[in-house]
Amino acid sequence: MLKVTARAHTNIALIKYWGKADPELMLPANSSVSLTLDQFYADTTVSFAAETGNDTFVLDGVKQSPAATQRIHQFLDLVRARTGVRGSATVRSVNHVPNAAGLASSSSAFAALALAATRAAGAELSPRELSRLARRGSGSATRSIFGGTAIWHKGHDDDSSFAEPVPTAPSLSLRMVAILIDDRQKDVSSRDGMARTVATSPYFPVFAATAEHDAPAMVAALAQGDMEQIGQFTERSAMMMHGANMAAEPPFTYFAPATLTAWAAVRAVRDAGLPAYATMDAGPNVKVLTDATHVDAVVAALHAQLDNELVVCAPGPAASVIDTT
Ligand code: DP6
Repeated sequence: MLKVTARAHTNIALIKYWGKADPELMLPANSSVSLTLDQFYADTTVSFAAETGNDTFVLDGVKQSPAATQRIHQFLDLVRARTGVRGSATVRSVNHVPNAAGLASSSSAFAALALAATRAAGAELSPRELSRLARRGSGSATRSIFGGTAIWHKGHDDDSSFAEPVPTAPSLSLRMVAILIDDRQKDVSSRDGMARTVATSPYFPVFAATAEHDAPAMVAALAQGDMEQIGQFTERSAMMMHGANMAAEPPFTYFAPATLTAWAAVRAVRDAGLPAYATMDAGPNVKVLTDATHVDAVVAALHAQLDNELVVCAPGPAASVIDTT
């Protein structure tokens, strides 16, 4: 049987996905827009045996328990149903992140798994079909099939919910600086956190409606290369997501004290006249959106205020097969 290794890069949402309209089909409450990063990625190798049985999942060299393999197993069942392959799978995945600072992501994990597993099963899906399949593993993975900037159209059924690349103005060369704050496991997973916010936060409908409005506006701003608009939409979406979490029942937040310090530092960099806009996901690390022209000055200005390690990212490539044996 074929053994296929695929590589997919992590993406960071500029307009956030933070809630499901249909948890079974993994349809999101709103469309979202992201930037795939070159510095963070997962390499995943999949092979199917001839016989049926339990799937095996080895993550960063450690064999995972049946409970930890459950989500992978369910996803592989979708691949088996689609391709007709019936045997058990062995999945080996390695996360490539500069250090263990909580930056491993389900976006790269399920995008790499979708590509490696379908190829190992002998199927060749189009990028759009792969995006739809990756969605079933993790919402954010929908966008990691593509390099650079992408929009995930929320859609209304399995067919219509997929991502596609978004063109950016030739003058625009985005960069993202990750401010590494903490490597602890998150207290509330993104899956549980968003479900709680959808179910209980009175701010959630406002977050989702604003994101749905801002997603096409962000696409237009990217096409025009309007950095100020891009940055303002980016900060608004992140802050509204985190605001909605604080209004959930019971309330929760991914902000650590150092997160606020970093956010204030980004603000100071911008007040000094540099393009620098903060975003943040289901963990305390802050990511700063800027452009290639200003990234060195932004990094210097952040270093002057913060002791944290900084990782500079450029747009990353689309998911691809890197080895077949
Ligand atoms: C804050 O894609 O991890 O990164 O679909 O339940 O697997 P599931 O959630 P996940 O959530 C990502 C949330 C986010 C925002 C985003 O990537 O759009």
